[in-house]
Amino acid sequence: MAYTKTIHILILTLFCYYSSPSLSANPTYNVQSFGAKPDGKSDCTKAFLSAWGAACAATTPATIYVPRGRFLLGSNVYLSGKLCKNTAITIRIDGTLVAPSDYNALGRTEHWVQFERVTGVSIYGGTLDGQGAALWACKNSGKNCPKGTTSLAFYNSNNILVSGLTSLNSQMFHVLVDGCHNAKLINLQISAPGNSPNTDGIHVQQSTGVTIMNSHVGTGDDCVSIGPGSSNLWIENLACGPGHGISIGSLGWDMQEAGVQNVTVKTATFSGTENGVRVKTWARPSNGFVRDVLFQHVVMLNVQNPIIIDQNYCPDHHNCPNQSSGVKISDVTYQDIHGTSATAIAVKFDCSKTHPCTGITLDGVKLTYGNKQATASCANAGGSAAGVVQPTSCL
Ligand SMILES: *[C@@H]1O[C@H](CO)[C@@H](O)[C@H](O)[C@H]1NC(C)=O
Ligand SMILES: *[C@@H]1O[C@H](CO)[C@@H](O)[C@H](O)[C@H]1NC(C)=O
Repeated sequence: MAYTKTIHILILTLFCYYSSPSLSANPTYNVQSFGAKPDGKSDCTKAFLSAWGAACAATTPATIYVPRGRFLLGSNVYLSGKLCKNTAITIRIDGTLVAPSDYNALGRTEHWVQFERVTGVSIYGGTLDGQGAALWACKNSGKNCPKGTTSLAFYNSNNILVSGLTSLNSQMFHVLVDGCHNAKLINLQISAPGNSPNTDGIHVQQSTGVTIMNSHVGTGDDCVSIGPGSSNLWIENLACGPGHGISIGSLGWDMQEAGVQNVTVKTATFSGTENGVRVKTWARPSNGFVRDVLFQHVVMLNVQNPIIIDQNYCPDHHNCPNQSSGVKISDVTYQDIHGTSATAIAVKFDCSKTHPCTGITLDGVKLTYGNKQATASCANAGGSAAGVVQPTSCL
């Protein structure tokens, strides 16, 4: 018995030995070997930063591994590419990363897990638990609270992949992509209660070549929000709800603002959301723009504003001067959009008086409002309708 065991170990050792060149060529750094404890109580921030440092120092593709269990990350986890030589880092997560439940622990830092100036980072699997409930309660009580942290942020980074990640109950935005080029967010599950403030699912801005696919987002704010400077954005197979829908904007706050261009939303379902597909701009002077947008194959289920362009965006109708938006919206196509509206006005184009919307196309739109008539409303909107369009187009 002991003998066969020894032989076994010998064979295993030999096997490992002979296969080790490829292993050491692609090293794996388990956060536990840097001191992380999966007990949900010990702060693992330093261990994660050390694992990141080790992967960055490796000259070949490297993997950071987070095993099963709950890993408390008690402060801003700042993963910088500045001193990182490695452009192929995989982070494989089987466990859950847990934010401190006391929002004061993260203080006034804007982000919890933050990547900056990284290239070639791929994250597979894992759960982020933002533990936002206490902060939402503070905000909802009208007290003076911190703004809160984004759970996962990518800044000025290239060639990013996030696949199979679950993000729960972020204090603020769940995922932020800002100043990035080529980012793929695939198979994400993002959720927070419908009444949690500012918990946008995915916010994209100043970025090109971002793809969001096969994901479910249900939060208290926009499922996906698209800020200035977003171009070549592709969203496919998205289930949204609860939440405020997909929103291009708010845009046009600043006079000098990068435009939004070439956005495709293909195959999406909105369930019980405040908006379906929305473009919103402040009524202020701005040189921003929105052009070349396609919303295609969209199902609306009991959505308050299924199709909406709002160029007089003014939340709570408070302190907005009576101006006109400078953001020029053009070439926006709505193709094969059907389902149910929760309000009578299923299609609303409220465009800028000084910069009217042009090239709006409705092609195969069928939205109903219970057994009553749904209507469309247009102001300063030009374009055309094709195929069955119900409610009747006002373009
Ligand atoms: C628009 O964006 C898509 C990716 O979303 C890209 O494949 C396509 O080439 C872009 N089109 C133009 C004209 O840049
Ligand atoms: C805003 O200005 C328009 C004319 O430019 C006017 O018709 C409208 O009543 C004004 N609204 C408010 C709230 O002052």
